[in-house]
Amino acid sequence: MALLARVAAAAVAGGDPLIDLGRGNPEVGPPEHVVHALTESAARPDVHGYAPFSGLPALKDAVATRYGEVYGVHLDAARDVAVLPGTKTGLMEFALCAVESGGTIVLPDPGYPDYFSAVALASATHVPFSGFDTKADAMYLNFPSNPTAATVPDGLFEEAVEWAERSQAWVLHDFAYGDLVFDGRRPKSFLAVDGARHVGIELFSMSKTYGMAGWRLGFAVGNAELVRRIELFQDHAFAGILRPIQEAGIAALTGPQDSVEERRATYERRRDRALAALEGIEAQSEGTFFVWFRLPDSVTVDHLLVEHRVAVAPGEGFGARGAGWARLSLAVGDEILDLGLERLLAAFD
Ligand SMILES: Cc1ncc(COP(=O)(O)O)c(C=O)c1O
Repeated sequence: MALLARVAAAAVAGGDPLIDLGRGNPEVGPPEHVVHALTESAARPDVHGYAPFSGLPALKDAVATRYGEVYGVHLDAARDVAVLPGTKTGLMEFALCAVESGGTIVLPDPGYPDYFSAVALASATHVPFSGFDTKADAMYLNFPSNPTAATVPDGLFEEAVEWAERSQAWVLHDFAYGDLVFDGRRPKSFLAVDGARHVGIELFSMSKTYGMAGWRLGFAVGNAELVRRIELFQDHAFAGILRPIQEAGIAALTGPQDSVEERRATYERRRDRALAALEGIEAQSEGTFFVWFRLPDSVTVDHLLVEHRVAVAPGEGFGARGAGWARLSLAVGDEILDLGLERLLAAFD
């Protein structure tokens, strides 16, 4: 929000149009057949009442099939899948359903700011991740990571499962960018690790894989007890999700998947461009649609915005350990990206 206020102030100040590389919203929507499924469904007279509170069984089947085919994880659709109105909701519900107030939750730092909100909402306390010796009631993990764009280090999921078993703690793995991985990597689900489903859940979002961020559709999958608690909470809080959105979700999950690969490849190509342009700057991106880079000494995000009219997300917005770093978005057209990179380079000169 503070960044937004500064963007607004800089925009009002005039000069060259601002280049916004701060965004986290996919720039391309879902494929046409998904939009078509939505409009076809919405035109039917029988879809406007309450949908089943816990989601359409066919939608749960569709995500379970995807988990089997793409991530090598067997899910029992009826028992292991909760349908969410977007995974942000699941981030909050996990903290509320898994941890008593006053509990302790380990968070990635730098990490997605909503994790901090979830901990506050549950009246819990957060501690930054610093290995697997911490005593806590729960842990959030996120790979590929927003904002660091890192994929999961070998063995980390396995260690997390051991930690959770030892500590009798719960784990949430946020898999929002799961399909957006580069350099020949395969998407890695937390649930593919032995024992993971006994200690936690994974959130799978339709927002980034299919460009459906505004549709608000996602899933919590894995531990059946947590899935049950989340569904119980949602029965009372939301009373289901509009049926046409769920039916279009089925079309996205079961229809042609070429758009997923196109999206992934586009971000990888832009990532290559960005890293090449930032040569000499410490910068990284193994997945997501972000590049995480260290700000050269004496350059600040405010300076970039006001003097060079390019917005990037300041690292400290993702936690204390993000200070001195910034996140740039690849979810913009090629021309905007190139212009933004030019301005960054001019600022770093
Ligand atoms: C790391 C991370 N998790 C979760 C979300 C929320 O996604 P959804 O649209 O499914 O609520 C986002 C959205 O930006 C995100 O970056």
